[in-house]
Amino acid sequence: MKLSQARRDFYRRKAREEGYRSRAAYKLIELVKKYGLIRPGDYVIDFGCAPGGWLQVASKYVGSKGKVFGFDIKAVEIGLPNVFTYVLDVSLPNALDVVKECVLSEVNVVLSDISPNISGVWEVDHTKQIDLTLKVVDMLPHILKPGGHCLLKVFQGPYLDLVRSRLNSIFEEVYLTKPSASRKESSELYFVCLSYLG
Ligand SMILES: C[S@@+](CC[C@H](N)C(=O)[O-])C[C@H]1O[C@@H](n2cnc3c(N)ncnc32)[C@H](O)[C@@H]1O
Repeated sequence: MKLSQARRDFYRRKAREEGYRSRAAYKLIELVKKYGLIRPGDYVIDFGCAPGGWLQVASKYVGSKGKVFGFDIKAVEIGLPNVFTYVLDVSLPNALDVVKECVLSEVNVVLSDISPNISGVWEVDHTKQIDLTLKVVDMLPHILKPGGHCLLKVFQGPYLDLVRSRLNSIFEEVYLTKPSASRKESSELYFVCLSYLG
């Protein structure tokens, strides 16, 4: 068995044993521990939230005084008292209006783990994924509190710098990272963005 396969199996088994809906949960746990992204009492939006691993993690970190709002094109039933989920395609022109209607106030943290259906054609998948990520970036001025944080998945490729320069202009600190639960062979990376300038 290859090392990458062994690691994938490790996180999959761990998620099953610890009751997380996806291996992705461990990516968020690692990044929250390293960067302090989510605190008790925070309000958090999670775009591309299905099947719900990040919702479970965020729910624990915000605690009973915080709230987590999840959006995805797929419906998610999670049964946690501080988590609210909605069906939404972020690429629709009215997506921002829907988010504002559901969340009602600005939030402390915006997460996006969005990835489109993978075609296998690298340029196509990269372009689609960045396009969806930019839809989320466009929403930030309307949904994120000044001083708030953001975590965005991106697929590597030529448009990465475009996203980076947008983020550099609106956050105090921006880091590009690959958590250890992310498969080595996957082209995904994460922008950790701290202290939104508003
Ligand atoms: C890798 S999964 C997210 C895993 C999730 N973070 C977890 O921990 O369970 C990517 C998600 O992005 C969603 N997605 C893809 N295109 C979308 C769109 N246009 N709007 C909203 N969600 C989308 C997919 O339906 C999928 O559930």
